[in-house]
Amino acid sequence: MPTEQLIQTRQQEAPVKTEKNSIEGVAKAFGSACASYDLAARLQRYSGKQLLSFLPDAASSTVLDLGCGTGFFANTLADIYQTVCAVDISKQMLNFSKQNRSAKIHWLNADIQNLPIKDNSVDIVYSNLAIQWCEPLTDTFIEIKRVLKPGGIFIFSTLLDGTLMELKSSWQKVDNDQHVIDFNSFATVEQAVTDAHLSINELQQSAITLDYDNVRHLAKELKGLGANHLPRKSKKGLAGKTSWQNMSNAYDVYKDSAGNYPATYQLCIGAVVNS
Ligand SMILES: C[S@@+](CC[C@H](N)C(=O)[O-])C[C@H]1O[C@@H](n2cnc3c(N)ncnc32)[C@H](O)[C@@H]1O
Repeated sequence: MPTEQLIQTRQQEAPVKTEKNSIEGVAKAFGSACASYDLAARLQRYSGKQLLSFLPDAASSTVLDLGCGTGFFANTLADIYQTVCAVDISKQMLNFSKQNRSAKIHWLNADIQNLPIKDNSVDIVYSNLAIQWCEPLTDTFIEIKRVLKPGGIFIFSTLLDGTLMELKSSWQKVDNDQHVIDFNSFATVEQAVTDAHLSINELQQSAITLDYDNVRHLAKELKGLGANHLPRKSKKGLAGKTSWQNMSNAYDVYKDSAGNYPATYQLCIGAVVNS
């Protein structure tokens, strides 16, 4: 299907203003990370590759990549499928991605929660590690169901409660501020899928541990990914030197025998169908 037939101008409803989806903040943080993102994206590459195994064969499919970032997986999808539209909230990210990816991809600056895409028009929606920035989650699934054709599939990954628990608990020893975003539980994701009347083909949770040389290395990676927007943080700007040192000392309890600093990511992978 030509992409012009996919896109519709929609009355832009005012985005639901919640703490997590202060969209401008998310777009700004990811936009400023576009050049560093690919080097820092080891978890994103791993989870995005896991999702590829759920892709249906039909090469004539129309596909959306929601929260496409630098377009690494949009490019893979463009190798397989006829029509690929890559969506991101950050214009800066899209401008960067366009220069490096397949000319076949249609790039769209839009919000996952309010897609300028026609009803029942898409065969496959793919989204790797983006919907943790969208809430309420049920509304996100309802919006995705709206654009899916009957029988269409939504293949996604997101992060769950317990992600970065070492960092969160180390900061809790220092102050009560927000240093890690609030992630949904597995039960909340399952409920959102059910409430949107999508059928579960696959829904799984696994814990992935990545090692870091030190806490600065972890913070640098999160910043390099643009995943450092904290909507509920009351004190803006960087933490003071003493607070940082105290947090870093608290993190030492997690250090392993080889001297690595682990960080846990609770990865949720799903394939749900508009049946
Ligand atoms: C962690 S990156 C993942 C990028 C890519 N999917 C990958 O596999 O590397 C999350 C992306 O989602 C985008 N994003 C976050 N919230 C969004 C929203 N509400 N609508 C569209 N894009 C969003 C961010 O701008 C960012 O580029």
